[in-house]
Amino acid sequence: MLSVIESKICKLQQEFSNDGTCDFTFDRSENNSFFSVDWSVNDVALFSGDNLTSLKKLLMTEPGIVDLCYIDPPYNTCSNFIYADNRKSPETGLLGSHEAWMQFMLPRLVIARELLKESGVIAISIDDYEFPYLKILMDRIFGEKNFIGNIVVCRSKNGRGSTKNLASTHEYLLVYGKSNKVALRGESDEDTIYDKADAYGKYRIDGLFRKKGEGSLKSDRPLMAFPLYANLETGEVSVDPCEGWEKVLPKDSKGIDRRWLWGETTTRERVWQLYSSKNGVIYVKNYAGKESGQKRKKIRTIWNDPSLYTERATNEITSIFGQKIFDTPKPIEFIKKIIDAMSEENALVLDFFAGSATTAHAIYELNKMNGANRKCILMESSDQIPNNHVAYAAGYKRIVDVSIARLKYIHDKDQEFKFEVFE
Ligand SMILES: C[S@@+](CC[C@H](N)C(=O)[O-])C[C@H]1O[C@@H](n2cnc3c(N)ncnc32)[C@H](O)[C@@H]1O
Repeated sequence: MLSVIESKICKLQQEFSNDGTCDFTFDRSENNSFFSVDWSVNDVALFSGDNLTSLKKLLMTEPGIVDLCYIDPPYNTCSNFIYADNRKSPETGLLGSHEAWMQFMLPRLVIARELLKESGVIAISIDDYEFPYLKILMDRIFGEKNFIGNIVVCRSKNGRGSTKNLASTHEYLLVYGKSNKVALRGESDEDTIYDKADAYGKYRIDGLFRKKGEGSLKSDRPLMAFPLYANLETGEVSVDPCEGWEKVLPKDSKGIDRRWLWGETTTRERVWQLYSSKNGVIYVKNYAGKESGQKRKKIRTIWNDPSLYTERATNEITSIFGQKIFDTPKPIEFIKKIIDAMSEENALVLDFFAGSATTAHAIYELNKMNGANRKCILMESSDQIPNNHVAYAAGYKRIVDVSIARLKYIHDKDQEFKFEVFE
């Protein structure tokens, strides 16, 4: 398997380079026991060091284990961040100044794909600058047919006044599946209010049991126009007569004889799902989804909510660390939304550009909120923090020390949250 991946990476490296070079190999002498996290104890495993090394080692030990990979790579902005964000090549060839960034991302994305389960998903944050180049890389690595979609994420109200004519208020979340086996869980449908409850769970009333439209006449299906009996006080419905209960036929408001949605046998089996109003109108109860009591809807492709704005993330970092010691954090709610919509409640999530460990914080909150049991693998660089950076002045020496500090912060709040660091 390793040789196949080596040659895949080499082929792609040559395709996306001006000079056709390839320098990728696995070091087969690596100790294969590298990855042994006790998941019965830990919620998070953090690998310190270059993520390419950690990804290679993880692949050599445990391929195909990840359900969801979320990454927020350096966007190549050339800013003076806590981490290096300047990977620009001379502007030659088709890829212009983007070649170096693509070469950096390429082997990491190929290995990330190998680490995913067949049903696995990858979601990548990116802005306009590298978006087209990332899309091309992803199409080549994951396959165009596995492109799930691109979500526009609003990151501020007024935008960064970065260009002369436009204030950019958005970035992207690019989503691919490893294969066509992917079935995303979907966004929780917060617009839906389930205001009633019975022994079968929370429900709402929104659909008539009388059929409407084409084929709805009694003459269309006479056997589906049987009488029902309704308790107008409690809302209960029965197929058999009960003393004191109202007999109801599927007549519409104009007195036309129509039919029910189900035949008599199905109605008997599922009569608990029917509800009668005080006027004897029969409805079908619409129950909330089983998981977390929430109904789900397809993920929408524009996310615009103040809880997802960058400002929110900055406030979170300041409240955790006392000052803004990390330049480009994501808001906890943003990563919670991704994880909740794109992975099951027992998923293993990988973030190999972990930064201030927001992904771990999001997992912790989701697990606490709805009794989920997601686990997470983080990777972060152990490079030294520039000595003119505010994090250095605050006592942090390596970038990964910031990730570790966030994990400790969560553990100090709640001792049940456990993590292990692999240096
Ligand atoms: C945009 S930040 C991620 C921020 C993160 N989502 C958060 O909420 O804090 C990118 C991170 O990737 C890390 N990084 C860049 N190159 C890396 C490498 N080769 N190995 C490991 N981490 C790397 C940087 O140090 C930086 O912390």
